[in-house]
Amino acid sequence: MIFTVAIDGPAAAGKGTISRAVAAHFGFAHLDTGALYRAVGVKGGDPVAAAQTLTPEDLARDDLRTLEAGQAASRVAVIPEVRAALFDFQRRFARAEGGAVLDGRDIGTVICPEAEVKLYVTASPEVRAHRRWLELGGDAAEVLAQVKDRDARDMGRADAPLRPAADAVEIDTSELSIEEAVARAIEVVRARL
Ligand code: C5P
Repeated sequence: MIFTVAIDGPAAAGKGTISRAVAAHFGFAHLDTGALYRAVGVKGGDPVAAAQTLTPEDLARDDLRTLEAGQAASRVAVIPEVRAALFDFQRRFARAEGGAVLDGRDIGTVICPEAEVKLYVTASPEVRAHRRWLELGGDAAEVLAQVKDRDARDMGRADAPLRPAADAVEIDTSELSIEEAVARAIEVVRARL
């Protein structure tokens, strides 16, 4: 069976948690596409060359989840050649036999516009910054500024900007528990299977 669940949305909206839970529930493979951009961002050197030569070791680095890696990722993600270098891998993953969940910014709009299910997972900037702060600590005002900065760059870039696909189902997690958000996502997928 070929079945793609595309989950897009801004930083810290709950995409990762929802994606992992949906993949585990239905036995689908899961790809966190943000990790690809984070790995390119922290690798250093020429980002296009880094994207073209990305290895499993690059994706296993333990510094990929930091705020700095997130900022570095969103800076290399504006480069069309970087996005192009990562396209085929994501595309093959999305349409591989067995079902796949991909989370990112452009899965439903660019990587897999024909995805069987598209979710747009969002929450207010304040709620998202608070979640990131609980996870990573640091200065709360600085975390909020970084979240807003990354939103602006991801939504404002010319190539594959973050936006909901026309046929995406929106889940606003601002006032949902993790369990409620996951249950809603599973329900949407189940209805399309
Ligand atoms: O989802 P995550 O916070 O790990 O993504 C890091 C950055 O990578 C995002 O802010 C965005 O700039 C970029 N990204 C992207 N397209 C994707 C996934 C991530 O441009 N599909």
